[in-house]
Parts: sequence; C-alpha cells; structure tokens
Amino acid sequence: MESRPLPEDKVDNYRFRLGQFELVPIMIGGMGVDISTTELALAAARLGGVGHISDAMVQHVSDRKFDTHFTKAKSEKHRRTRDGFDKTTVKFDLEHLRQAQLNHVRDTMERKRGPGAVFINVMEKLTMGAPGDTLKARLAGALDGGIDGITLSAGLHTGSLRLMEDHPRFRDVKIGPIVSSLRALKIFLKSGARLDRLPDYVVVEGPLAGGHLGFGEDWRQYDLRDIVAEIIAFLREEKLDIPVIPAGGIFTGTDAVSYLRTGAAALQLATRFTVTEECGLPARVKQEYYRATEADIVVSGVSPTGYPIRLLTYSPCFTSNVKPQCEAFGYLLSREGTCAYLDAYEKTPVDAKGRKLVPREKVCLCYHFAKFNCYTCGHYVYRLKDTTRRLPDGSYQVLTTEHVFRDYQFSTGQRVALPEAAQPAPAALADV
Ligand SMILES: Cc1cc2nc3c(=O)[nH]c(=O)nc-3n(C[C@H](O)[C@H](O)[C@H](O)COP(=O)(O)O)c2cc1C
Repeated sequence: MESRPLPEDKVDNYRFRLGQFELVPIMIGGMGVDISTTELALAAARLGGVGHISDAMVQHVSDRKFDTHFTKAKSEKHRRTRDGFDKTTVKFDLEHLRQAQLNHVRDTMERKRGPGAVFINVMEKLTMGAPGDTLKARLAGALDGGIDGITLSAGLHTGSLRLMEDHPRFRDVKIGPIVSSLRALKIFLKSGARLDRLPDYVVVEGPLAGGHLGFGEDWRQYDLRDIVAEIIAFLREEKLDIPVIPAGGIFTGTDAVSYLRTGAAALQLATRFTVTEECGLPARVKQEYYRATEADIVVSGVSPTGYPIRLLTYSPCFTSNVKPQCEAFGYLLSREGTCAYLDAYEKTPVDAKGRKLVPREKVCLCYHFAKFNCYTCGHYVYRLKDTTRRLPDGSYQVLTTEHVFRDYQFSTGQRVALPEAAQPAPAALADV
C-alpha cells in the first residue's frame, strides 16, 4: 500500500484513541532486558504517548533496581546442578517471580505522570522451565502492579488470555498481541473469541524490527506495508474495530505519517530510542549502536529461542564460551529443562588446555542480555549517526527521549532534527 504524505502532514495531526486514553500515536516498543527502562517509558507517557517496560529477566531487573536477591536465592537453591547438563529440576519460585514483576511494575506506575500510558511487553518464549505457570505469575504481577496495558510478544499466545481471565482487571487492562502475519492474528482472535475478549490493539511487526523476528530466513521477502494493509483490510471486512500499530523500520516522522494516512492508529518505534539518555544500554554500548554501518548488521540464528534475531556483528556474545547460567537465570529453559545453548555448549570441544571453545551455533542469551552483550537493533540502526552531532572527542552526542519523540511527532519532509549542540563542560573552578 503506497501513500504519499502531504508535505506538511505530521504525526501530531493524528490522535490514537484507546479506551479512556487520547494519545499521541507514538508507542515506544518494549526492549528487554531493561533496555526500555522505566525512565524511557515514563518519558513517553509524560509526552502523551505510550511507553513500554519489559518483563524479560524480571528477577534480575528487580535485584538491580530494588536490591532484592531473587537471582541469588534461585542460584543457591539449585547449586547441585551447576556442573552438569541435566537442568530438569531448575524451576522458578512463582511467588518470587510475581513479586519481582510487581516491584518493577508498581514502581513504574507510581511514578507515572502526564496523559500517556505505560504498557509492559511480555514474551511467551520466556519459557522458564514451566511455561504456563511462569507466564501466569508474570501477568498477575503486572496486573496487580496497575499496568495500563500488556503487549503479548514472541509467540502466538493462544493460552495467555486464559491465564488472566480470573483477574479482576482482565476486562479493563488494555491487551494487544504482536503479530507478523494475518495468520497469527487470526489464531489470537480465535483464542480471544472463546473468552469474549477482543484485543484492544494489535502491533504488526515487520522484518526490519529489532529483537527477535517473527519470520524465518526468508524475512527479506516480506514487507511491513503489505502485511499491515492485509490486516487492516481483514479487520474492516470483519467489522472489527481493533487499532493497528505497525512496527519495524519506521525511522522518520514522515515514514510514520505514511502509515497513519493509510489506516494505522499509531506506530511502535524502538531503534531510534536506543541512543537516548533514558535508554538502559550502557553509555559505551550506545556508541556501538551509533557507529554501526549497514555491513555490521546480521539476522542470526544464534538465539536459543529458535527465532532469528537481528544483531550487530561485533556484539561480544558472538565470541563467548560462557558456561550456561541456568541456575541463576534459566529464562529459556523448556518444561523439560532443555535449552539450545545448553546443548550447543555440551557438544563444543575443549582446546589442548581443557578450555571450552566458543560454541558457534548458539549464544547464552540470558547471560549476555543481562550484561548488554547482545547488540540487537532494527535494520536502520546504521542511520542513527545521522540523527545526532559528533562531539570533539569523536563520540556521538546522546539524545533525550523528548527530542526523539518530538522529532517523530512534528517533523515533515523526511527531515530528522538534530539536537542542540551539547554545551562544553564549564572550566574547572580551580583554575580561577
Ligand atoms: C534493542 C532492542 C530490543 C528489543 N527487545 C524486544 C523485546 O524484548 N521484546 C519485543 O517484543 N520486541 C523487542 N524489540 C522490538 C521493538 O519493541 C520494536 O517492535 C521494533 O524494534 C520496532 O522497530 P524499529 O526498531 O525499527 O523502530 C526490541 C528492539 C530493539 C531495538
């Protein structure tokens, strides 16, 4: 579906009505592990849009933020399996998990100001040794903590609504799946129909997005515009009033407007916010995102989830032989206690000194996401350097969320606003 935006049409000319909310149609996507921080989400809400926190590795996030000790307690409890490959007994304490989620969500919601909303991104592929039970605990923690909305990602979520149906907030919280095809949406709608619970919105994520992709190795053959057009046409035909939110590769306000003009209700954006002050990536990693060129991006099969993931080729996770960290983490363990990294590590030979070589097929996503060693990014990450200024020391100026948000909201004609030049640090008083 092609649409040429009017020269002065801008995102701010549109509003996204979602229940009691009247929103600027800008949603910052969930980025785990704590890359889309509370601060990032709160900034979006303050500016009238939607921000997401993520519940990926939420016990670890709670420990970092609130000085809890869930990870240590789990690691201690399962210390006997640390040196082996049988992880069938490694399970999460469901009450700890719910509590960690509650800590994260409640803290965020208590600090929320302004007309916008804060949602949480909940991934089905975090199977955590007991898929249904752990997902239920995470959903309960989010609902108890007062989250405005739940975005169901990384999976078809055919059973997720049922896991929430007894919660008093089930019919009032906003719920929307992320899909990459009409087929996936139809499957989700069927599960909702059984409970008389339609989604409040649907995010349609195309092949240029960051994080895991809902496509196979043939991702290049798909176009977000086609998928969005097909889904909008289907919903119109079925007379289903569900707002559609495209995501993946929407880099400018003008890109965003082109979707709004053809029936999208809002946009989900992420990559441009990875280089903001509020984003959880460490400062040195933000510079790694800025310096990326198109040749540095790979869609890789190294994720144990089985989904392809877009990464920068110089991500440290690619050259690591770290021992599987299932006792402390174990967020990707199947019900049977297996994980593709565990298998790859077991099969990897040792060198002459008895040290493990680097497993080539898979990476330990838990460990490396916790350390910000997987530089996952959207396809247009290599354009980030054009959105800022170069500083005298050669590094790139980090932006504010407000700057990027407002650029999407108000820019026209494919322009990207550069930030105000950073002020040089004041001369040292000792010199006076
Ligand atoms: C650093 C990063 C981490 C991400 N992590 C997640 C995640 O944990 N769960 C998820 O559903 N999507 C994740 N995404 C996808 C975004 O939420 C979003 O839908 C997508 O990246 C939008 O495309 P854009 O980055 O081109 O704007 C991530 C994206 C990035 C850039």
